[in-house]
Amino acid sequence: MSDDLRIGVIGLGLRKNLATAAHRPGRGSVVVAVADLDPAVRATVPDAYEGAVAVEDYRTLLDTPDVDAVIVATPDDTHEAIACDALRAGKPVYVEKPLGISVEQCDTILRTAHETGTRLYVGHNMRHMGVVRTMRDIIARGDIGEPKTVWVRHFVSYGGDYYFKDWHADRRRTTGLLLQKAAHDIDVVHWLAGGYTTRVNALGDLMVYGDLPRREPDTPRPDGWLREFDWPPAQRKDLHHVVDVEDVSVMNMRLDNGVIAAYQQCHFSPDYFRNYTVIGTEGRLENFGDRPGDEVRVWNTGPSGYRADADVVHRVPDAAGSHGGADASIIGEFCRFARDGGVTDTDPVAARMSVAAGALATRSLRDGGTPYDVPPLDPELVAYFASGQVSPRPA
Ligand SMILES: NC(=O)c1ccc[n+]([C@@H]2O[C@H](COP(=O)([O-])OP(=O)(O)OC[C@H]3O[C@@H](n4cnc5c(N)ncnc54)[C@H](O)[C@@H]3O)[C@@H](O)[C@H]2O)c1
Repeated sequence: MSDDLRIGVIGLGLRKNLATAAHRPGRGSVVVAVADLDPAVRATVPDAYEGAVAVEDYRTLLDTPDVDAVIVATPDDTHEAIACDALRAGKPVYVEKPLGISVEQCDTILRTAHETGTRLYVGHNMRHMGVVRTMRDIIARGDIGEPKTVWVRHFVSYGGDYYFKDWHADRRRTTGLLLQKAAHDIDVVHWLAGGYTTRVNALGDLMVYGDLPRREPDTPRPDGWLREFDWPPAQRKDLHHVVDVEDVSVMNMRLDNGVIAAYQQCHFSPDYFRNYTVIGTEGRLENFGDRPGDEVRVWNTGPSGYRADADVVHRVPDAAGSHGGADASIIGEFCRFARDGGVTDTDPVAARMSVAAGALATRSLRDGGTPYDVPPLDPELVAYFASGQVSPRPA
C-alpha cells in the first residue's frame, strides 16, 4: 500500500495548479478529495484526480478520515472560517496567501493553530521562487553589505482581467489590492530586509477601471476571459459588478530594524514584472526579469556612472512548473511539514505581518495618507510559532 500523504483540496479555481503539484500518486502525495461549491468544478474532479471524491461542503471533506492534510485555495475572505475548522478537525492545513483580509482574521487563525496544536502552513510561494532566493542568497553572503532600503515596482499588466472581473475587485472580499496582491511582495521585502513593518503610509486611487462596463451580479466570468486581453486597458469590459478597490497604490514602510522600504503597484501597465532594488551599505542589487534564466545584477564597487553590465551577474536557476517552479517546491515543503513538522521557509507569523502591513496601508490610502502603526502580534503566539509550532509540555 502506498504511503502517500492523502490531500483534500478546498477550492479548485484558478489556483488549481497547487492541486496539480500535490497530485503525485506513488511519489509522496495524492489528491483524494476536493470540496468546491461549483458543480461544474466538481464534475472535472474524476478526470483530473483519479479516485478522488468531489463534495460541495468542505466540512464533509474535513470529516473524511482518509484525508491526512488539506489545501485551502478558496477566495481570501473565506480563509479564516475554513482554516479554523480544518485546524479544529486536526488536519494540517495549507492556507493560500493572503492568510486573511484583516489583522483580526489572521490572529484568529494563528490563535486557533496554537490552541489546537494542529500544524499551520501559509502558501507564500514567492519564497520558493528562484529570483527571490537568488536575491536573498546575495544579501546573506554580505555581497551588498547590510541592507538598508528596499524598493519594489510591481507592473500588473493583466490586472484588469485577473483582479477587476471577479471577487478581487470588491473590498468586502479582499480589503484591497494593496493587501490582496501585495501581501506576497511585502513578505519578500520583510524576508530580504530581515525585519517586519512597524509603520506605513500610502496613497492610491481607482484611475482606469472605475468607469468601464460591468456585468450584472451573479453572472459568470466571460468565456475566454483569460485568453483574450483587450488593449488599451480602457477597452476592457465585463468587469465585476462591484469595483471599489484601487488600481494604483504606492506605499512606504519603516521596519523594526530601521530599514525603509517602498512598494508600488499598477494594474494597467503593458508588461507584467516585479522589479526589486535593494541597497545596502556596500552595494545594490536589482533583478532584470523574474523567471528562470533571468538575471539579478549586483553593483558593489564605485562610485561611478550607470554601468549596465554591473559587477556581478547571477542567473536565476532553472526550474520547471508554475510560478517558476515555486508551486511544486512549496507543496513539497508543505507535505514534509504536514508529516514531520520542522523548519520551513514560509512562516505563519510573517504571513500575518504582511497582511497587517497591507491592511494598515490600505487604511492609510483611504484617508489621505495618514501614517499608521502596525499592531504587534501577541508574544505568546510569536513564541509558539518561533518554537516550530510545539507547545511546551507541562512538567
Ligand atoms: N500564491 C499565488 O500565486 C496565488 C495566485 C492566485 C491566487 N491565489 C490565492 O488563491 C486563492 C484562490 O484564488 P483563485 O484565483 O483560484 O479563485 P477562484 O475564484 O478562481 O476559485 C475559487 C474556488 O473556490 C470555490 N469556493 C468558494 N467558496 C468556497 C467554499 N466556501 N467552499 C468550497 N469551495 C469554495 C469556488 O467555487 C472556486 O472554484 C485566493 O486566496 C487567492 O488569493 C494565490
